[in-house]
Amino acid sequence: MQTLRGFSSWLRLLACACVVLAIALAVGSIRSAQAQDADEMKPLADYPDVIQAWEGSPHGNTYDEGKGPNTYCSRCHSPQNWDPAARPSAPPNCVTCKFPFDPELRIAPTMDFVSREDWVGIACSTCHVVEGDLINASSNAWLNPIAGEYEPVATTNELCGKCHTNSTGVSETGGRGVDHEIILGGSAHRNWAATIGGHRPDQCSDCHNPHTQQPMACVDCHSNVAELDTHIKGMNAIHLEKVQCLACHDASGAAVGPHPDEAMGGVWTTLEKSVSRGGESTITAIVSHSVQWQVTCDRCHYADNEWGLAVLNADGTAP
Ligand code: HEC
Ligand code: HEC
Ligand code: HEC
Ligand code: HEC
Ligand code: HEC
Ligand code: HEC
Ligand code: HEC
Repeated sequence: MQTLRGFSSWLRLLACACVVLAIALAVGSIRSAQAQDADEMKPLADYPDVIQAWEGSPHGNTYDEGKGPNTYCSRCHSPQNWDPAARPSAPPNCVTCKFPFDPELRIAPTMDFVSREDWVGIACSTCHVVEGDLINASSNAWLNPIAGEYEPVATTNELCGKCHTNSTGVSETGGRGVDHEIILGGSAHRNWAATIGGHRPDQCSDCHNPHTQQPMACVDCHSNVAELDTHIKGMNAIHLEKVQCLACHDASGAAVGPHPDEAMGGVWTTLEKSVSRGGESTITAIVSHSVQWQVTCDRCHYADNEWGLAVLNADGTAP
């Protein structure tokens, strides 16, 4: 008896719980349905700080005769001005653009010029649902410039990657393209073996403010590294002023060495070395986005290195 009564009251409790749960779910779904709609649409004027930050940023200033103010290049520089039918033309006027050495704008007959007044740029509506003066700032969406409709984006990386991408080698465009893919590689922030720690920055917006585009520096998060007397085997003082974090921690295998721009005071950074068809070699500083934990000392301290650095093994011991 005792157990049975116990059982039936338990059943009643369960039934009650189910009803409560069902109500909660129903209310929840009503809430989330509203969340998709009117509730999340707020006046643009509610965000003066964001608008001001964006106005002073690279995304807020994309109109430039040197960056192709036309219906072809605008695919990423102002997607809402893009005409998918636009094509590069034959040289010398391949694209409508004004190179620094050009006295006047070149006009390609295969694409339209876009005036400053008609240029939309990378606007709020590129990354958020905007209707008239209202914006859904609580989530992101990509305004597909061909369909003219919003598409959901699963991650910020997917959103940023719509334009920060490579478009090289498409035969339809005569093989012309751009190389702007940002690869977040390496084991330090992505691809790491499971450990419980802080939130590793694996999204563009973990480091870049999406409206100013300004990044955080490594030491903004790793604020203790400069004081750690175990870091670089106790040789912080010798290196940290002279060598950028990523010159040691880069996982992309880039060349490293002093910055080619003298104004940078010889700080070591990641480099790209290329040889032109005429045999001239150029060295350009590049930004690596691939971070690894493991650092080998002989990346720089190798035998007969051109800078006269002490020769060391990978682990820092003398050979
Ligand atoms: C696939 C997208 C895409 C297309 C198409 C594209 N761009 Fe860009 N462009 C970018 C991105 C992204 C940046 C910023 C890249 C960065 O700093 O890494 C950029 C930057 C630039 C810059 C500044 C480069 C610098 O180093 O300061 C110029 C100039 C430029 N683009 C011109 C053009 C011209 C001209 C065309 C058309 C022939 C074009 N772009 C087409 C995405 C694109
Ligand atoms: C290049 C894409 C992009 C553009 C353009 C953009 N945003 Fe955003 N916005 C984002 C992303 C990504 C987030 C979410 C950031 C995060 O993950 O914390 C965000 C978040 C927000 C937020 C909430 C967080 C905050 O910073 O207050 C507001 C408000 C906002 N955006 C307003 C705007 C307005 C207004 C504009 C136009 C001036 C605009 N955004 C343009 C990408 C963009
Ligand atoms: C609609 C295409 C588009 C999207 C989406 C986009 N960008 Fe950009 N971004 C560009 C272009 C084009 C430039 C170059 C602007 C210029 O110099 O005129 C640029 C410039 C930048 C710069 C400055 C580069 C420099 O050389 O100083 C950063 C950083 C950046 N974007 C980060 C982001 C991040 C982070 C996101 C996602 C939140 C994002 N972008 C989304 C097209 C885009
Ligand atoms: C761990 C932090 C971090 C993450 C994550 C990150 N960035 Fe960066 N990014 C930086 C820093 C720091 C710089 C400036 C480096 C410098 O100027 O030396 C930078 C520079 C840039 C630049 C300008 C330099 C260039 O290569 O032309 C662009 C564009 C950019 N980031 C886009 C992105 C995009 C897109 C993503 C996501 C796929 C992303 N970043 C993710 C930290 C980050
Ligand atoms: C937004 C914060 C943030 C920024 C910016 C950032 N990191 Fe990290 N990083 C982390 C977190 C969190 C971890 C996980 C370990 C921890 O909690 O310290 C990590 C891990 C690492 C590790 C692996 C160490 C380990 O214990 O697994 C290295 C190396 C590293 N970061 C280097 C860098 C470098 C170099 C930069 C600049 C390009 C940078 N980080 C920028 C937050 C950040
Ligand atoms: C001269 C090369 C060098 C430079 C420059 C350098 N590191 Fe390191 N870093 C190392 C080495 C070596 C390790 C230990 C990992 C290993 O044994 O391979 C390490 C480890 C780390 C770790 C993991 C914590 C630890 O102590 O093991 C973090 C986080 C880190 N570095 C961040 C940074 C940041 C941020 C900067 C720039 C302020 C930086 N590093 C500059 C060589 C360097
Ligand atoms: C990315 C390149 C780079 C890496 C990797 C690197 N160093 Fe260095 N190291 C330098 C530079 C540059 C100097 C010279 C600094 C100066 O001019 O004051 C230096 C100086 C030194 C010196 C002083 C003697 C000399 O050669 O000038 C020692 C000792 C040293 N490093 C040890 C190490 C150890 C140990 C490691 C690995 C944990 C390491 N370094 C990793 C770039 C590097």
